Amino acid sequence: MATLSSAGPEAAGRRTDPLTLIDVDHVRFFVGNAKQAAFFYGSAYGFQVEQVSDLTTGNRESAQYLLTQGNIRIILETPLTHDHGASEELKCYGDGVKDVAFTVFDAEKAWEQARRNGGDSAYEPRTVSDARGSVTMAGVRTYGRVVHSFVSRRNGYDLPAVKQGGEFAPGFRRMDSFALNAFNREHPCGLKFVDHLVGNVELGAMNRWVSWYQQVLGFSMFKHFDDKDIATDYSALMSKVMASGNNLIKMPINEPAEGKRKSQVQEYLDWHAMTPGVQHLAFRTDDELTSVAELRRRGVDFLAIPEAYYDSVWKRVNHQLETHGHTAVKEDHQRIRQLGILVDADDEGYLLQLFTRPLQDRPTLFFEIICRRGSQSFGKGNFKALFEALEGEQARRGNL
Ligand code: FE2
Repeated sequence: MATLSSAGPEAAGRRTDPLTLIDVDHVRFFVGNAKQAAFFYGSAYGFQVEQVSDLTTGNRESAQYLLTQGNIRIILETPLTHDHGASEELKCYGDGVKDVAFTVFDAEKAWEQARRNGGDSAYEPRTVSDARGSVTMAGVRTYGRVVHSFVSRRNGYDLPAVKQGGEFAPGFRRMDSFALNAFNREHPCGLKFVDHLVGNVELGAMNRWVSWYQQVLGFSMFKHFDDKDIATDYSALMSKVMASGNNLIKMPINEPAEGKRKSQVQEYLDWHAMTPGVQHLAFRTDDELTSVAELRRRGVDFLAIPEAYYDSVWKRVNHQLETHGHTAVKEDHQRIRQLGILVDADDEGYLLQLFTRPLQDRPTLFFEIICRRGSQSFGKGNFKALFEALEGEQARRGNL
């Protein structure tokens, strides 16, 4: 396995901990119609619709499409029969994230360690192999309907090979002739990797899940916001950010907080069968303006930012940057306003971010496009502006 043979002594040491995470292997969505969803995410967000496993490849249980962009891998899966587990979940939750899967050195050992640490099994280790190599997966349950799979890959299916366009797993075939892929190569959206992934849990459950990530997966707390930080007059939430040992993945966990009106986290839960789940996936770009301009050109439905936001943003952000000895925001301020991008700063630098509207009719999962210029936080200064904008959206849906 190239990942192992190319690894140095430090990596060899890390391997003694079975829960060392190598990468976000993939994020699996359960969707009602993967064929159409693949076209939506390819067309709107610039993903390569790269590979498929379906009836034509001998998969009689589900259709699965691998979408890729940078180091992002999304599997869109649709069950083909009524008694498939995903059919029941789609009825309850609509389209959304089922599995946040991590590449590890040995999936079975990672799963065993997570279970020793108190994690519940979602499914037992299973290996699929062919002449090219093998993929082993095993899963533990996290909050609500979400699972973390551990994935270990051998020989032709190792992650470096997959990143170079090799088959994702036995039973997948490449979709080289899919016309949209050529267009996307010529018009890149510039999304590089999953920066963070946010979960919504029930009122009072956040600390339990913070402990779960510490005890079961060995994560630690990255940042902490309380409801005074993230509150408007009408809706509030509390959030704690969990990070894997190597900061490979950051997973903020939100719970609703008391407000005069319904919290956006509560709105999510109301439309997600009162079950915790993934609220948003944040994709990193090196160039927020170019990415957002291309995504807008493609018709991506972003959250509308109130005009008044731009009256105060530069004073707030540049003051913060100056205070900590950082240079001011270098991107064109007028262009940022035209593109409706949010800006925030902390003691380490600044970030640019923008949130999409929900990706499906239920107000559940959405995406964030984020670019970091030193800042490692999550846009705390934007929360107020964001929630005011979100509340406008909630009101339009009659959910305030
Ligand atoms: Fe975020």
